[in-house]
Amino acid sequence: MAKQNKIRYGIIGIGKQGSRYAGQLFAGMDKNGVLTAVCDIAEDRRAWATQKFGDKVKVFDNYEALLDSKLVDVVLIDTPHYAHPVIAKTALDKDVNVLCDKPAGVYTKAVREVAQYAKENKPNLKFGLLYNQRTSKIYKAAKALIDAGELGNLKRIVWIITNWYRPQAYYSQGGWRGTWAGEGGGVLINQDPHQLDLFTWLAGSKITSVNAIARTVGRQINVENDVTATCTFENGATGVFITSTHEAPGTNRLEISGDGGKMVISGSNDFNMKLEFTKLETLEPEFSKTNTVFMGKPKSSKKTVKFMPHEVLKGLLADKGQHINVIRNFSNVMLDKEDKLVGNYEEGLNGLTFSNAIHLSAWLGRTVSPQEDGFEDTYYEELQKRIEEEKTNSVK
Ligand SMILES: NC(=O)c1ccc[n+]([C@@H]2O[C@H](COP(=O)([O-])OP(=O)(O)OC[C@H]3O[C@@H](n4cnc5c(N)ncnc54)[C@H](O)[C@@H]3O)[C@@H](O)[C@H]2O)c1
Repeated sequence: MAKQNKIRYGIIGIGKQGSRYAGQLFAGMDKNGVLTAVCDIAEDRRAWATQKFGDKVKVFDNYEALLDSKLVDVVLIDTPHYAHPVIAKTALDKDVNVLCDKPAGVYTKAVREVAQYAKENKPNLKFGLLYNQRTSKIYKAAKALIDAGELGNLKRIVWIITNWYRPQAYYSQGGWRGTWAGEGGGVLINQDPHQLDLFTWLAGSKITSVNAIARTVGRQINVENDVTATCTFENGATGVFITSTHEAPGTNRLEISGDGGKMVISGSNDFNMKLEFTKLETLEPEFSKTNTVFMGKPKSSKKTVKFMPHEVLKGLLADKGQHINVIRNFSNVMLDKEDKLVGNYEEGLNGLTFSNAIHLSAWLGRTVSPQEDGFEDTYYEELQKRIEEEKTNSVK
């Protein structure tokens, strides 16, 4: 892009999350970025912006006007989920770069179409996804160990992520949450996009089949808040993904095993999270082939990588702004100071495909494959059925 001092950001949707980024950009937390415009359809949010930013930031009541204003180089999309691909496409059409908050959309069909459109028609525009957890020291370390082949061939990846506790009051506040029409799902589409992305990112392989139970437990909502899913990957590994928003206390434990050992990431919050890596002295298949001892077991090496709390804390200080770090990365890429976006919009398809497959398997009561004929159309049709049903049969 043409050389300029700062990348000008516009934020579409200044609710809870968008207002956070607006505040950070306005406070100068990205030295290469500046907030020039915001937009929200809600009058109270616009009043908040006018009061907070004065005349330094232009406030719009519709995103097309913001996009036409020539005031922004990038828009950050922070509206409810269904609008993400729609607004992204409009922005690209108007030659504005896009950083979309998670999830990329509600269903893969819409996301794939926009990703394809961008690739074919707007290859010069940057089109990112705000996958802030990819910048976490712990997940980056896990990815580096896997990519370096330390785990060997992967055998299994199991994530129990049940510490997203949300009481009824959260869903009862009204608005778009907890409905098929407003949100497009429950825990899978709202809380879990980061984990679903990391699950597929760390496995480094395509999901080939999914069998799942998705239920609503103990809340007056239409969407799922309790999921148990199993899956297979193209690389031969299997996976288990368990998630909920109603268990207390919840668990966050990710276990990845391979021929070379096992990695466990655990902790209930950022301050006590740790990664432990136990490396086998001999790859497990090799050990089994050569061992002659009845009930013999492979020895693990003394090399265990472990992030003790003080190291985590140190990492966290650097990570302090996981989200602003993604914005800084976007500005840097725009200014040719960094090569790669933390997350490309198209990569949003990986976690979303898993999410859609979990829903579909639970709805149809059978194992599904994202590669089966008509997967995307069937998902879309089944989702529409739930939206229709909700109109007359809503429990929310
Ligand atoms: N990356 C993260 O860690 C993270 C964390 C929380 C939320 N999020 C994501 O942020 C997004 C917003 O979530 P939230 O909690 O801020 O919701 P919210 O309801 O607080 O805010 C959404 C805002 O968008 C506005 N809006 C709706 N349609 C609009 C339109 N067409 N044009 C302009 N504004 C519009 C609403 O009036 C509202 O103010 C969601 O996609 C959510 O998943 C991301």
